[in-house]
Amino acid sequence: MARNVPTFVCQNCGAAYGRWQGKCEACGEWNTIVEENASTQSPAIGPGRPGRKGRPFALEPLAGETREAPRLACGIAEFDRVTGGGFVRGSALLVGGDPGIGKSTLLIQAAAAVARAGHRAVYISGEEAVAQVRLRAERLGLTTAAVELAAETSVEDIVATLRQGKTPRLVIIDSIQTMWTDIVDSAPGTVTQVRSSAQVLIRYAKRSGAAIILVGHVTKDGQIAGPRVVEHMVDAVLSFEGDGAHQFRILRAVKNRFGPTDEIGVFEMTGAGLQEVSNPSQLFLSERDRGTPGTAVFAGVEGTRPLLVEIQALVAPTSLGTPRRAVVGWDQNRLSMVIAVLEAHCGVRLSTHDVYLNVAGGLRIVEPAADLAVAAALVSSLVNVALPADAVYFGEVSLSGVVRPVAQSAARLKEAQKLGFKRAVVPDTARADIGDTELAVTATSSLATLVADISAQSVDRGDRRVAKLRQQDG
Ligand code: TYD
Ligand code: MG
Repeated sequence: MARNVPTFVCQNCGAAYGRWQGKCEACGEWNTIVEENASTQSPAIGPGRPGRKGRPFALEPLAGETREAPRLACGIAEFDRVTGGGFVRGSALLVGGDPGIGKSTLLIQAAAAVARAGHRAVYISGEEAVAQVRLRAERLGLTTAAVELAAETSVEDIVATLRQGKTPRLVIIDSIQTMWTDIVDSAPGTVTQVRSSAQVLIRYAKRSGAAIILVGHVTKDGQIAGPRVVEHMVDAVLSFEGDGAHQFRILRAVKNRFGPTDEIGVFEMTGAGLQEVSNPSQLFLSERDRGTPGTAVFAGVEGTRPLLVEIQALVAPTSLGTPRRAVVGWDQNRLSMVIAVLEAHCGVRLSTHDVYLNVAGGLRIVEPAADLAVAAALVSSLVNVALPADAVYFGEVSLSGVVRPVAQSAARLKEAQKLGFKRAVVPDTARADIGDTELAVTATSSLATLVADISAQSVDRGDRRVAKLRQQDG
């Protein structure tokens, strides 16, 4: 028989402890440990259960016929790109993101698209009343789509309802944190409930062949169980990102058993819902400050798609003992590394300056290929000289100050050419895979060369500026 021992479970990562403590040692979060009833932890496991006689199954060779997983493309191209071509039958997908980012909007749009294509799509809301979901659908112009709606939170009731009639192709559960199951008696929203409810829903998906999408809120404070615990149970995890100040939203695959994880989908939040952005470079460069010192255009690649984005840097004399290094949209450690290389190998002194770096448009870049563009923006800001407005930059910088080649150079240059750029500063060794390009390509072997080029312009211009000031004085 299961004993009734209280267990303390971290609501962020699911680690269990014998007593309460302030900090979870497994994930490092504070105040996330909550008492849960141990007898309900693992309903299926227990010494009291009689053993079942196993049923033998067939073992298969590694070599054999493989069939492509049957997919259902929803028709929203940016969404399908991230899932790897559509929703896989019998799969479970988790869409995570901050509250208010637009998860419900995206998924009702996806459900409507699937329904319009003649498939059964069900949308279960645990957070909003049916009237609220309808209101949103009305605003999005989706009321004519045959999506089946309900406001429900009991997973047993949901599964029983879904079993009636034709098996749905797509089921959306918004959100998994509001669901609860009878098999455990913890409060809804706790890790145990979230995990058990997800288990029931995923089992339903596997058995019936319906694709199920679970929505999960990501909360920093750990009051509501994070979808972390569900991540390893589902086939794919997508994160929906963006910040309140920008209308861009990025859908990114974090894990995908059936497709790539480096693709992103770009959307724009408008008054009429999320619109797809099929040419994100144009969008990210639309508010460019041409001819201002401290900005460089980075020719990046996200998955298979090239993406041009502006890197903005501000280097200003500091009044603090330890200068500030603030980054938005890029890796802090990577910035420290570029700064160190500039100091050590290029004679650029930044220890008396604060450095601020921002990736325009609210995008988050993970590619090391942005090193060269970041360095160019930093130097440009320091010497107060604008970089050529028609130039793009890409290349990885090594600790020795050498500019390393990066993948997909040709694709990056092609995108730059398409958007009207005339010049590119690229790694020296990238020449081989550049292919045909109309851009004037400057091959750089070391960061020091780039710094010398930029500061040479500063000397030219600086003289002129001084001369001009002298004239005004005189
Ligand atoms: P929502 O999908 O409810 O977010 P989530 O489910 O992730 O919590 O979207 C919330 C925000 O989106 C809300 O602040 C309003 C905005 N929004 C628009 O700007 N346009 C629209 O057409 C819709 C439906 C929402
Ligand atoms: Mg919502």
